[in-house]
Amino acid sequence: MARLSVNVDHVATVRQARLATEPDPVSAAAQAELAGADGITVHLREDRRHIQDRDLIILRKTVKTRLNLEMAATKEMLQIALELKPDMVTLVPEKRQELTTEGGLDVKGLSEPLKKFVSHLMGAGIPVNLFIDPAPEAVKASHRIGSDGVEIHTGKYADAVSAADRERELKRVYDSVLLSKRLGLKTHAGHGLDYRNIREVAAMRDIDEFAIGYSIIARSIYTGIAEAVREMKRIVIEGRQGGF
Ligand code: PXP
Repeated sequence: MARLSVNVDHVATVRQARLATEPDPVSAAAQAELAGADGITVHLREDRRHIQDRDLIILRKTVKTRLNLEMAATKEMLQIALELKPDMVTLVPEKRQELTTEGGLDVKGLSEPLKKFVSHLMGAGIPVNLFIDPAPEAVKASHRIGSDGVEIHTGKYADAVSAADRERELKRVYDSVLLSKRLGLKTHAGHGLDYRNIREVAAMRDIDEFAIGYSIIARSIYTGIAEAVREMKRIVIEGRQGGF
């Protein structure tokens, strides 16, 4: 069964809009877990625009499922991860000006520093996934580096407007998923997935886990987190049943 890891960053985005204490991503994470989330994901950004160090420390103590820390491959983040020991780390590229993570890691170009970084984390017993574009070279490079797995970037698929672009991007995702599985990598997918576009990706049985944030948190404004998580989980399970 595919797992659903709920990204609670945007609960913190609302809180930080007023530099207040509510809403609390820690409470949101607990409610998401009660509603069936299989994991909680947070991205601690260098500029701390949403998730704060305090959130991470409390989440480490309170998350009952699996805590996935998304982070850039920097010295500061390495130190934090080694101290915190999340259940897994997903390495992402990070630019200050971006609204959200825009592209996958340049695993091929940065293979030497990334390899060192990954082995440091894995040496401390922390499994590491690399967030990559749906491209065979990136999957192969991640395998060569020795990461536990990859998270395939579904953003271009999610943003595609024409049917032809959508098909092409979906095929890219699927080919990368198949290759990743064939190489024995843990295979996750995420970015831009919502209640509609998840269906075709959920049908890919080789995907082990989805990381979904924005669409769930946006819907939770109307329905509450529990209902928003339950509905996404239901679609993921349904998609898998009719899948390939
Ligand atoms: N996976 C990664 C690596 C991400 O950076 C993000 C965004 O923080 C997500 C998944 C979740 O994307 P979205 O919020 O669009 O569902």
